[in-house]
Amino acid sequence: MSRDCPVSSADAVVLDAVTRSYGDVTAVGPVDLTVPSGEFLVLVGASGCGKSTLLRLIAGFEQPTRGTVRAAGVAPVPGRGAGLVFQQPRLFPWKTVGGNIALALRYAGQPATPARVDELLAQVGLDDVAHRRTWQISGGQQQRVAIARALAVDNPLLLLDEPFAALDALTRERLQADLRRVSAASGRTCVFVTHSVDEAVYLGSRVVVLTPRPGRIALDLPIGLPRTGVSDDELRGSPEFAALRAEVGQAIRERVTS
Ligand SMILES: Nc1ncnc2c1ncn2[C@@H]1O[C@H](COP(=O)(O)OP(=O)(O)OP(=O)(O)O)[C@@H](O)[C@H]1O
Ligand SMILES: [Mg+2]
Repeated sequence: MSRDCPVSSADAVVLDAVTRSYGDVTAVGPVDLTVPSGEFLVLVGASGCGKSTLLRLIAGFEQPTRGTVRAAGVAPVPGRGAGLVFQQPRLFPWKTVGGNIALALRYAGQPATPARVDELLAQVGLDDVAHRRTWQISGGQQQRVAIARALAVDNPLLLLDEPFAALDALTRERLQADLRRVSAASGRTCVFVTHSVDEAVYLGSRVVVLTPRPGRIALDLPIGLPRTGVSDDELRGSPEFAALRAEVGQAIRERVTS
């Protein structure tokens, strides 16, 4: 996107000629990327290509070396405006499950009633765990709590960095299905990082493949798969799903081996 192109208020994230370097090493860029509100964008690429760096730039934890980052039209402020989910749940072990959610609500200045906490946990398929300690629930359940915590704060943007990478295949598929449902229902904009081509095509309304470092956009692919009215088995087994998976996989392999 050129600098004189007007930024639509419907754009949740706009990266304009963004580069991030660490000393002599350019980690990402230049990257131009516009994420419209409500989109589920998946960033996929080889290890070390700069996916987490891009998320940190969008979250405001890092500043670009060159170019500009805008979230909801302004420079992002760390801890404001975006919910974050990481590969590890990063829950507070001295608090109960419900206590972790309540803390996020209070931090955001929202009422932290037990009913609201239960409602958020139910959204991610967790019942009757609010009173438990975080170390008394499974890794998959902990990651669900982390997603509930990110949803607790009423901000329009969710940034997720390989949130399911540490989970077994079955738990991972269940959480993907729940996230797909919850994100579609919430209307939030999501930027999701993964190594998994399958996960990218299943979750994304758009998939962006990055080149190896410095990460640049190698492929920007809309995913026109239906988001409602079709079962997961039908979706994953469809020829359209297979074709998209092949296209994304090929773009990654071409870049890694070229
Ligand atoms: N704080 C830092 N200081 C120096 N180099 C860094 C720093 N953070 C990231 N890098 C480098 O920038 C590049 C991109 O890192 P980044 O963590 O964004 O990659 P990634 O795509 O998320 O990788 P992975 O898939 O392994 O998580 C890497 O080569 C990394 O070593
Ligand atoms: Mg990373």
